[in-house]
Amino acid sequence: MTDILMPVRLSETVITPLQSRYTVHRLWEAQNQQAFLNDVASRIEAIVTAGAILAHGMSFATDDALMARLPKLKLIANHGVGYDTIDAPAAAARGIMVTNTPDVLTDETADTAFGLVLNTVREFPASERYLRAGEWAHAPYRLTASLRNKTMGILGLGRIGKAIAKRGEAFGLKIAYCGRNKQADVAYPFYDSPRALAQACDILVIAAPGGAQTRNIVDAQVLQALGPTGFLINIARGSLVDEAALIAALHAGTIAGAGLDVFAQEPHFEKAFLAVPNTVLLPHVGSASVETRKAMEDLLIANVDAFAAGRAVLTPVPECQLARPPAQ
Ligand code: DGY
Repeated sequence: MTDILMPVRLSETVITPLQSRYTVHRLWEAQNQQAFLNDVASRIEAIVTAGAILAHGMSFATDDALMARLPKLKLIANHGVGYDTIDAPAAAARGIMVTNTPDVLTDETADTAFGLVLNTVREFPASERYLRAGEWAHAPYRLTASLRNKTMGILGLGRIGKAIAKRGEAFGLKIAYCGRNKQADVAYPFYDSPRALAQACDILVIAAPGGAQTRNIVDAQVLQALGPTGFLINIARGSLVDEAALIAALHAGTIAGAGLDVFAQEPHFEKAFLAVPNTVLLPHVGSASVETRKAMEDLLIANVDAFAAGRAVLTPVPECQLARPPAQ
């Protein structure tokens, strides 16, 4: 395998090692992307891509129509665990392997989620702004909600959800969850809908994958069920939340607060969030440490190298674990 299509700009630490071994076609630099694609389509054997946050703000959908244009395509390697910009079922149906970068970012992302829990419930960023503004001399910062005797509901109890639950247990929180299925080896109470989970918990943490199946599953009714003392934390994808409903719920006091690391549009997020009370907003930094991003890049490249050498890839996405291996 020699020819790789890179639709979006990844970091130089990804491009340089790939370029040393393969021909990398940089679609994002092309003046006329359709003409560029027409020119290279017959040679492309792999796509190396990422969601906007790891691609300098560029968005690109690797959909069935694109796959249909690339007759030799055998691998789509995603930088990042979330691969909602790739039509993985379509790839699997075509015998194209899709890989992502799970596990190496689990703890970093769970740390970010729990940082958001503490900062949102205990209002540390707001109380710091209070100190810096010189307000402390006039009156102490107001009392906040507490983590004591609270239940954390995890929406999506996968690898990252479980790591968040572990942190919650260490802080004395009760844990409950909702997902596609009840997990036989998990003792936490299971709820069969986001609304039922929201009703049963104080802090609802979203850790489920993005994509068409989960779009807006946290809507006005779920927020209503979470209630005026409830908090919403999202470290997954902004697309899971009806953002207009969330902004309205925060203004109305329908819920107590929200901590968000992700937004429906990134990096050009809905600016109405800036004026919303009781929110902690982060620029999608869930996995953004030097060590973790390096581990993600190494895994991305290892998947490409394994595939090119005819070995099994390290981390195929679940859709492709079920599919027939592509012909080499
Ligand atoms: C991912 O890996 O999907 C993250 O959202 C990027 O840090």
